[in-house]
Amino acid sequence: MNADGRIRLNQTPEWTALAKHREELGEVRLRELFAADPGRGTAYTLRVGDLYVDYSKHLVTDGTLALLRELAAATDVFGLRDAMFRGERINTTEDRAVLHTALRAPREAVVEVDGENVVPAVHAVLDRMADFAERVRSGEWTGHTGRRIRNVVNIGIGGSDLGPAMAYEVLRPYTARDLTFRFVSNVDGADLHEATRDLDPAETLFIVASKTFTTIETVTNATSARTWLLDALGDEAAVARHFVALSTNAGKVADFGIDTANMFEFWDWVGGRYSYDSAIGLSLMIAIGPDRFREMLDGFRIVDEHFRTAPAEANVPLLLGLLGIWYNNFFDAQSHAVLPYSHYLSKFTAYLQQLDMESNGKYVGRDGREVEWQTGPVVWGTPGTNGQHAYYQLIHQGTKLIPADFIGFAEPVAELSDGLKAQHDLLMANFFAQTQALAFGKTPDEVRGEGVPEELVPHKTFKGNHPTTTILARELTPSVLGQLVALYEHKVFVQGAVWNIDSFDQWGVELGKVLAKRVEPALTEGAEVPGLDASTTALVATYRELRGR
Ligand code: F6P
Repeated sequence: MNADGRIRLNQTPEWTALAKHREELGEVRLRELFAADPGRGTAYTLRVGDLYVDYSKHLVTDGTLALLRELAAATDVFGLRDAMFRGERINTTEDRAVLHTALRAPREAVVEVDGENVVPAVHAVLDRMADFAERVRSGEWTGHTGRRIRNVVNIGIGGSDLGPAMAYEVLRPYTARDLTFRFVSNVDGADLHEATRDLDPAETLFIVASKTFTTIETVTNATSARTWLLDALGDEAAVARHFVALSTNAGKVADFGIDTANMFEFWDWVGGRYSYDSAIGLSLMIAIGPDRFREMLDGFRIVDEHFRTAPAEANVPLLLGLLGIWYNNFFDAQSHAVLPYSHYLSKFTAYLQQLDMESNGKYVGRDGREVEWQTGPVVWGTPGTNGQHAYYQLIHQGTKLIPADFIGFAEPVAELSDGLKAQHDLLMANFFAQTQALAFGKTPDEVRGEGVPEELVPHKTFKGNHPTTTILARELTPSVLGQLVALYEHKVFVQGAVWNIDSFDQWGVELGKVLAKRVEPALTEGAEVPGLDASTTALVATYRELRGR
C-alpha cells in the first residue's frame, strides 16, 4: 500500500494483468503480427498536428494497448494532467505549479496560479523579447562603441543551454545568417575561450541565462565574459549594452551587475528543462525572429491541446509513454534510442536526455517511498545515418532490447541546392530500411537462399523484432519543432505519472554541487577537507602534484 492509501503500482490488478499478458505473449514476433493483420501498417498509426506516428512495429497487440490504457486509467494519468493544466502544485517536493504549457497559451487564455492569471505576464515578456530581438536584428541595438551587434553568446547550462542550443541548430535555415550565435555552458574555460576567441567584443552581446542565477558554471563564465569585454572596452558602462539576463531571480541579476531593465523574466512554475519557450529562448528568438518563434509556440500548443483533449486511444503522448513503460517494465529494456534522420536535429537527443533523465531518473515515489519498479530509461542517440555506421550493429545483433524512435521528414530543407536536395531520398531510404530491418530481420533460410556458406549463416542472420516508432512530418519547420518537443514533454509526463514519481524536481543533482564547493579549496590551496574519503584524497593529491602545486 502507498503512504497515500493507494495500492502500490506493482500490486495493482492492471500491472499484474500486464505482467501476465507479457508471459502469455512470450516470444511474440513482428513478422507474425503483420502476417496476421495486413491492415496493421495503417491501423497502428496516429496523427497529431503535422506528425504522422507509426507504432505498428511494436511488440503489442490490441490487447496489450488496452491493458496499458487501463494502467494509465488506474494511475489517473489524465487526472494529474488536468491538475497540471489547472496550475495545481503538482511538483510537490518543491511545492510548485508546473505550467510550461502556459508559456504557449494564447493571449486570451486564462491560466491561474494561486488565483492570478499568468497569461498576461507571459505575453508581456514575449512582447519585450520580440522588441529587443527586432532591435538586435535590425542593428538598432548597438554595442557600447556604437557598433552593430554581430555576435550573440548565450551563457547558461542544463535547461538554460540545451534548449536554445538545440533549437538554434534545428532552425538554422530560418536564422539571420549575418549574425553569429554561440552557446557556452561548460565551466571548462576552453568553452568560453573557443566561443569568443574570434569575436570582436564591441560587436558581441552576452545573454546570461539562468533560472536561479546561482549556478556556479554560469556565474563563473558570465564573470569571465564580463572581464573579456571590459578588458577590451575599458568602461563599466559597456556592461549595460553587452549583457542581458534571463532569470527568475531579479535580486541575483542585480547583484551580478546586470541592470534589471535588461532582464527578461520567467517564473518558478517553469522547470529549467521545460523552459526554452520562455525568456530562455531569447537567443533563439534573435536568431529566427519573433514571428518564427511564435510559430514554434503554436506548434507546442497544438500538441498541448491534443494531450489535454484527445481520448486515450488517440492520444499520442499517452501512447508513446505507455509503450516506453511496456518495454521498460515488462521487457527489462534499460535504454531508449532517439534517432533523427535530419542533420539539423543533431542536438535533439542531447536535449531529450535532460528532459527525460532529469525528470524521471528517480527512485523515490511521490509518496516518499522507494519504488519497486524501474523508472526512467537511459536516453541516447545521434542522427541516424551516422549511427548506422557506428552503434546500430548492437541494436541489430546485440543482446539488448533497445526500443527506438525514428524521426524523419519528407522534404529536404528549402535552401539546399538541387543537387543536395537529391540526396534526401537516399537519406530517407535508409530511414525506412532501418526500421524494416530492425522489425523483420532476416531468417537463416533467407540467408541460405543467398548462397551464404553454412558456417556464416548464424552471423548473417538478423533476428529482428526490435521495436521502433516512426515519426514522419512533411518538413522541419518551427511549428514542427514545437510539436516534437511538446510530444516528448508530455510523454515524459505520462511515464512519471504512472511510475508515481515527481517528474519536476531534480534533487539528485544537488550533492555533487555541494561536494564540488567543498573540494575546490583542496585543489587550489591544498586545504584539508574534513571527512574526505581515501580515494578522493589520493586523487586530489595526485592532481596537485601533476599541477606542480
Ligand atoms: O543542476 C541542474 C539544474 O538545476 C537544471 O535543472 C537546470 O536546467 C540547470 O541546472 C541550470 O540551472 P539554472 O538555469 O538555474 O542556471
